[in-house]
Amino acid sequence: MKTIEVLVDRPYPVHIGQDLLNDIAGAVPTSANKVAIIFAPAVTSRAHSIGDLLKQEVVYVELPDGELAKTPQALQECWEILGKNAFTRSDFIISVGGGATSDLAGFVAATWLRGVNAIHVPTTLLAMVDAAVGGKTGINISAGKNLVGAFHHPHSVWCDIETLNTLPIADLRAGFGEIVKCGFISDVVILDVVRKHGAQLVDVQHPALIELISRSIAVKAAVVADDFTESKIGGLGREILNYGHTLAHAIEKFENYGRRHGEAVSIGMVFVAELSAQLGKLSQAEVAEHRLLLQSLGLPTSYDGRAWPELRGAMSIDKKSRGDVLRFVVLESIGVPAIAESPSEEQLQAAFVAISVGGGR
Ligand SMILES: NC(=O)c1ccc[n+]([C@@H]2O[C@H](COP(=O)([O-])OP(=O)(O)OC[C@H]3O[C@@H](n4cnc5c(N)ncnc54)[C@H](O)[C@@H]3O)[C@@H](O)[C@H]2O)c1
Ligand SMILES: [Zn+2]
Repeated sequence: MKTIEVLVDRPYPVHIGQDLLNDIAGAVPTSANKVAIIFAPAVTSRAHSIGDLLKQEVVYVELPDGELAKTPQALQECWEILGKNAFTRSDFIISVGGGATSDLAGFVAATWLRGVNAIHVPTTLLAMVDAAVGGKTGINISAGKNLVGAFHHPHSVWCDIETLNTLPIADLRAGFGEIVKCGFISDVVILDVVRKHGAQLVDVQHPALIELISRSIAVKAAVVADDFTESKIGGLGREILNYGHTLAHAIEKFENYGRRHGEAVSIGMVFVAELSAQLGKLSQAEVAEHRLLLQSLGLPTSYDGRAWPELRGAMSIDKKSRGDVLRFVVLESIGVPAIAESPSEEQLQAAFVAISVGGGR
């Protein structure tokens, strides 16, 4: 088992390994009398396997699937269940599921009695390398995704590779979008591993998978420890995790959130690599490296050129832009992120033309 400490004001460990059920159950201190296991329907048996090993009284809370878990209704349901079961400050919440589950359960933990302990057991690759680490929690409302939320550190995070066995291959593949992102913005060893093994990595049994997950978590942990609340002024903070995300969010909105996040991020990274080239930062060889590595994992790297007007409009209202200024995380070189503010319309369009179907290299 590997452990990465997230060095925020209340440091917490992220454990990565195989067969962690007993360790997870052992992580709940005896001072807790009750544990609410908040879980996604797809991982019901995993949630019960953890609950069976707990010494505490266990309350199971099954959420609706996927994004339907991140609603005010599901949140209220959780509060009511905790209330009925008289949960106190010393009791624990364990989330078992993907990012939607940890976002909702984390928000429940942040708000119940103004904050109780949450243990996250992420069961998708995306949740392991991204959603469950970093302390951001939240729900969706009709005005938009993730508009309501809180920062709340978990007590600990347990990435049990075993849980990925049931994850559909397309979801596993999409998780690599964020892993490769961590390589481009910081840990270039990740890119070496992808270069070496390519598509073979999209396999839960692959021995290099734990290393890639650990390295990606280490990147996120370092960035988060440096800038927990995303308010860093001056130098680069948590914003660098948004590499590829400005276009990705526009694509997700354009496709009514029907597209996997990691796939949209993959396309978004090639776009912003092209933009970095337009700005005189990346070389064409470095942009080609983006395509090569992402394609080797079976991730998409181009988009329908006709969508540009709508995508461009959506990018202007992306919540990640500050004020009227359109900000992009770009690369100076592989592994070295920078911020580009207000690139010209010509540069934006040229970058998009380069990733458009028929316009790519
Ligand atoms: N808080 C953060 O910092 C952060 C970061 C990134 C993403 N997110 C959020 O995470 C969510 C996306 O996470 P996701 O991609 O994990 O999606 P998800 O939680 O919706 O899970 C995807 C699907 O896979 C199923 N599933 C989960 N684990 C499984 C398993 N082991 N076997 C079979 N099926 C399984 C789920 O039930 C769901 O249907 C979004 O809501 C996003 O906003 C949050
Ligand atoms: Zn992301």
